[in-house]
Amino acid sequence: MPPDAFALDTSAQLVIQTVMGGAGTLLGPLLGAAIWLYLYEGLQALGDIGPYWKLILGVVFVILVTVFRHGVAGGILEFVRRWRKDNRRAVSGAAPARVVATLDVMPSEPHAQQGMPVLQARRISKHYGGLKAASDIDFTLREGELHGVIGPNGAGKSTFFSMLAGELDATSGQVLLRGQDITGVGVTAVCQLGMSKSYQINQLFEQLTVRENVRIAVLARRRGPYRSDLLRSLRSDALDGQVDAAIALVNLGSQADTRVAEMPYGEKRRLEIGLALATGANVLLLDEPLAGLSPEERVSVVALLRSIRGGRSMVIVEHDMDAMFELAERITVLYEGRKLTEGTPDEIRKDPAVQAAYLGGMDDEPA
Ligand SMILES: Nc1ncnc2c1ncn2[C@@H]1O[C@H](COP(=O)(O)OP(=O)(O)OP(=O)(O)O)[C@@H](O)[C@H]1O
Ligand SMILES: [Mg+2]
Repeated sequence: MPPDAFALDTSAQLVIQTVMGGAGTLLGPLLGAAIWLYLYEGLQALGDIGPYWKLILGVVFVILVTVFRHGVAGGILEFVRRWRKDNRRAVSGAAPARVVATLDVMPSEPHAQQGMPVLQARRISKHYGGLKAASDIDFTLREGELHGVIGPNGAGKSTFFSMLAGELDATSGQVLLRGQDITGVGVTAVCQLGMSKSYQINQLFEQLTVRENVRIAVLARRRGPYRSDLLRSLRSDALDGQVDAAIALVNLGSQADTRVAEMPYGEKRRLEIGLALATGANVLLLDEPLAGLSPEERVSVVALLRSIRGGRSMVIVEHDMDAMFELAERITVLYEGRKLTEGTPDEIRKDPAVQAAYLGGMDDEPA
């Protein structure tokens, strides 16, 4: 690399070329460099404009970045996206609605029976120096069960969840998925074994469309962390069917070609659940799926959670007690990093320790 590659002028030109072509796209910087160098050389060769070539170059740059907010490549992609969306609309308006494939869910173990342990944590802990975010938590999720995890802010729910999902290494303890030790195997391996997690704070690709986000989730299970056939087309009918089915399940069919950044928050939460579903996982960990939703959106997401229960076992962390008491068969209460208690919604409602620690003096009888 020439030493002047790090000079201010050269670095600035590289940034300008990238912005002009389209940052975040594969071909954008190349396109930007081609346009910039063509104008840079071409304008200087026009002898009669003298030193004004720089002014013209500057004006062209400003016009391009104003007209194409995501660069020239971004503008082209946006145009293609709109064109496809219009085309799909025209086709679906003219033809009878396409039958959406059903979502392919990984089958449970052949001998799995309702009530058998699916996911177990044994004395699992996470310490950050002196701070004990989670300590010696024992936990069992059973086949077909919806298990709620509740606790006040900072109780260690998300930390516990991240250890279950394999994205956070436990300080001590063990996590078993259908009897197999998955402690420390990593989130990709866990996903391929049939367990998937949705996040408390959306982890979506904002610049991609709903369909593109879901496609990535489907590929996470089918293809794993890395393949060398990077330039091979990933499209197939089976993959598209799975993508369409996941989108339909979370009721985002009309938004499939919309960029995530343009969607309201409630729809993003539904998409977050859709990503976990799209992997085909039969064990779902959902971290606060109702967080930040309006009352109407809550009703629709609770209905969604109820509708996706078939063939799946689920753990849900939630602050919304009403939703948890309504949906869950069992509830585990965490408090200051420890498991305070566990039981049926009724038992948890009536437990004086839970009321003292978390519910703040709730009546014995449910409202
Ligand atoms: N990476 C980290 N480094 C240090 N401390 C952490 C880290 N992650 C979490 N903690 C601490 O661990 C404790 C438990 O945090 P956690 O996010 O698991 O709680 P939570 O029950 O999910 O809370 P909330 O209801 O607010 O989401 C908190 O005191 C938090 O500050
Ligand atoms: Mg949390």
